[in-house]
Amino acid sequence: MNDTSMQESLFEDRTPGAESHNERCSSLEALYEQSRDCARCRLSETRNNFVFGEGNPQAQIVVIGEAPGAEEDLQGRPFVGRSGQLLDKILAAIGFGRTDVFICNIVKCRPPQNRNPQANEIEACRPWLSKQLEIIRPSIILLLGKVAANTILDNKQSMGSMRGRIIQWNGYDVIVTYHPAALLRNPNWKYDCWEDMKMLKAHYDRVCANRHQGTA
Ligand code: URA
Repeated sequence: MNDTSMQESLFEDRTPGAESHNERCSSLEALYEQSRDCARCRLSETRNNFVFGEGNPQAQIVVIGEAPGAEEDLQGRPFVGRSGQLLDKILAAIGFGRTDVFICNIVKCRPPQNRNPQANEIEACRPWLSKQLEIIRPSIILLLGKVAANTILDNKQSMGSMRGRIIQWNGYDVIVTYHPAALLRNPNWKYDCWEDMKMLKAHYDRVCANRHQGTA
């Protein structure tokens, strides 16, 4: 299987009535092809793989982390290391699998030694994320951790002031919670994360009910 057909099977839905889904698959595939050799910043010089993101092109929820780690860089997939295993459990706790949401990062290439992405790297990478959001058009964005939240919301606020509520940003309903890596270091924060996830699920159910009634 060549790279292009592998991407098709990752994103494409062949069930009847899935035209909109397939249009978004095609757009995401085109964006992947356009972005995969990106050399807009120096992270391209040290990466093994450009980690585009993966999941449901029609997802109502896009989950955004900070940057790929070592395992993600090797596999070319987001959140597949220890943090990813915890993220899978967190999503499963509210009834979601990886294919129900779309998972990606603020920057698509691994920063050396897992340092925080620098401002120029974030700026260089931002158009890829913006285009992903334009194509998927989710209702809800879940931001994992302070770096992702401060970057997207363009603020310097603490986690405590951003989490636990729904924030309006660019037409999206944004929920901020702890990054899974932070939860691995500080298990005491899991309680707050669980509260955030329950809020996310309740909001998701409301959004779906409204869409069903044609009011959203
Ligand atoms: N941490 C992130 O922020 N993103 C990943 O993909 C993996 C770990």
